[in-house]
Amino acid sequence: MGKSTSGIFLAQALYEQGDDPMLIDADKGKTCLDWDEMAGGMPYPVVSKPVKDLHRTLPEITRGRGSVVIDVPQVEDHERIAKGALLFADLWVLPIAPSPVEVRRLFRDAVFGDFLEDMQEARQDAGRQPAGVVFLLTRTNTNRATKAGPDRDCRDELANHGFATLDAQIMFHDDMYRQSGGARVRALGTAYERAAKELKDRTPGDAR
Ligand SMILES: Nc1ncnc2c1ncn2[C@@H]1O[C@H](COP(=O)(O)OP(=O)(O)OP(=O)(O)O)[C@@H](O)[C@H]1O
Ligand SMILES: [Mg+2]
Repeated sequence: MGKSTSGIFLAQALYEQGDDPMLIDADKGKTCLDWDEMAGGMPYPVVSKPVKDLHRTLPEITRGRGSVVIDVPQVEDHERIAKGALLFADLWVLPIAPSPVEVRRLFRDAVFGDFLEDMQEARQDAGRQPAGVVFLLTRTNTNRATKAGPDRDCRDELANHGFATLDAQIMFHDDMYRQSGGARVRALGTAYERAAKELKDRTPGDAR
């Protein structure tokens, strides 16, 4: 939950930070494209590419951009699209609701962990560095991490499974983040601005 919203706002934050981003909407639902239209055009390019083998098509399309953000569809529905995106992207950001129960469900069977491991192996076979992996808490109660709340429990649970979580977290906020037709998107002053900075610090060197 929160993938497309995070894509739009993170790309916007990167734009505001002078990064010359491109947002690839790899979901057939075209949510990012809709945002782009409703906003009368984002100040950075939003390109719809719900195609297989993104690792082959994206190098050409994204050449010269300061950064590339991809809104990846659900793996269960569009495995080939997701796999190409994960081969291409050097940093995987995984939005998750701050519910420890959700986290437990994610790790209940080995499917999720195995999939990420398989993808890292596929990258290795393709001569690519392992991707960075980080969770992003979205729809949290608070704008900042708490010492003892569901967000904290979630971070701990993810850490138990060996996963990092961004310090920045995105609170549940109807006005700021929910799709409101035509609303102007701004990342300045939001947690997405902080998240984008953290992500830039985490991006492997060869990706920039
Ligand atoms: N922080 C937030 N606060 C309030 N509403 C939010 C927040 N983030 C996302 N939403 C709303 O929740 C809904 C789902 O968000 P979004 O479209 O980003 O999820 P998604 O993971 O891309 O979903 P899908 O799997 O359908 O592509 C949208 O209506 C969006 O506006
Ligand atoms: Mg979406």
